Amino acid sequence: MSLVRWSRSLIPALGILALLLSGCVTDGPRSALHPVGEVGIKQLGLLTFTLWLSVGVGLAVFGTLFYALFRFRSRKSDTGIPRQVQGSLLIEAIWTGIPVLIIIAIAIPTVRVIWETEARVVPHESDVNINVMGHQWWWEFEYPELGIITANELHIPEGRRMVLSLDSADVLHSFWAPKLGGKRDLIPGQDNELWLISDETGEFWGHCAELCLGAHAYMRFRVIVDTEEDYQEWVESFQQVQAPEMLPEGTAVQVQQQSTDPEIALGKQLVAQKGCLGCHTIDDYLEGTTTGTRNYPSLTNFGLRNTVGAAVLENTPENLARWLRDPQDVKPGNYMPTVWAEDDPNREEEISAVVAYLLSLGTPADDSPQAVALHGGTNGYQ
Ligand code: CUA
Repeated sequence: MSLVRWSRSLIPALGILALLLSGCVTDGPRSALHPVGEVGIKQLGLLTFTLWLSVGVGLAVFGTLFYALFRFRSRKSDTGIPRQVQGSLLIEAIWTGIPVLIIIAIAIPTVRVIWETEARVVPHESDVNINVMGHQWWWEFEYPELGIITANELHIPEGRRMVLSLDSADVLHSFWAPKLGGKRDLIPGQDNELWLISDETGEFWGHCAELCLGAHAYMRFRVIVDTEEDYQEWVESFQQVQAPEMLPEGTAVQVQQQSTDPEIALGKQLVAQKGCLGCHTIDDYLEGTTTGTRNYPSLTNFGLRNTVGAAVLENTPENLARWLRDPQDVKPGNYMPTVWAEDDPNREEEISAVVAYLLSLGTPADDSPQAVALHGGTNGYQ
């Protein structure tokens, strides 16, 4: 194809590409192009610098190429072969020297950003320390100093670093919250670390960025950046019903009375009967029991969480019912079994009761008085 015909078909193709690209959102909840904290901002700066440098290199190379194509194209009057330039010391020196300079220009800011953002963390008292355990296909987040264990949802205060210790219970995963910064692998038995920070409040989305089979595409999480007061409120609300032995000494806990709502009571009974507690943990504050294993998401405080199925659905009664009815339909490949047969006549009624019970976990019962106890004191909850 001649150059002219080739460029004729290239122009409409570029037009279509431009139209398609105009549909892309650059400031969505997972956009690395709109970072919210120091790590993300520095990494974007590096990306932008490298991008513009590459644009310059591209323009220079293609400019030279097209200049040579037109300036030195063969003419009817040409006879013989053109002057040969191989072995020219000047040209060899130029095209060796320029790439070396470009690599140095990229290396200096890259190494600086690596040192500033990637080095092993020097602890600071304002850090929020979080142990992250990757599971097929959900995230366990443990705040060891606060006695909180939750799943698929991180809460941090704005302007304070979260220092993540990353581990995996099974295969390789990768923690990636693009608006906060770059990703880091979770490798079984290897103590990887990552710190991130956000200067803005908001809800930012994260994703597993390492193919971990099955429901990898549904292994999502949320980072909720609160003001300092809202964060403290979240911590307290979580500590209210957490297993007392996990809480730090002297934590004030509001002991929740059991709800008298019969639907919630039925839901609680069903959760025990249907075998949910063989996998899931629900700390029962009043009875002082802990069930399940840490291989599956803890449901203690489930009512305070924003999503279902590792951030696949918003945590609403309708979505939770949908999840319980057919978990494989919502998140293909995950390990949650279908509990109710499709022709079970009690299915809908029982699912409603379980939904009511699960959503009540962590939220105080409206109709019951609350006693305040101090863990680590003489309240008998130790
Ligand atoms: Cu975990 Cu992909």
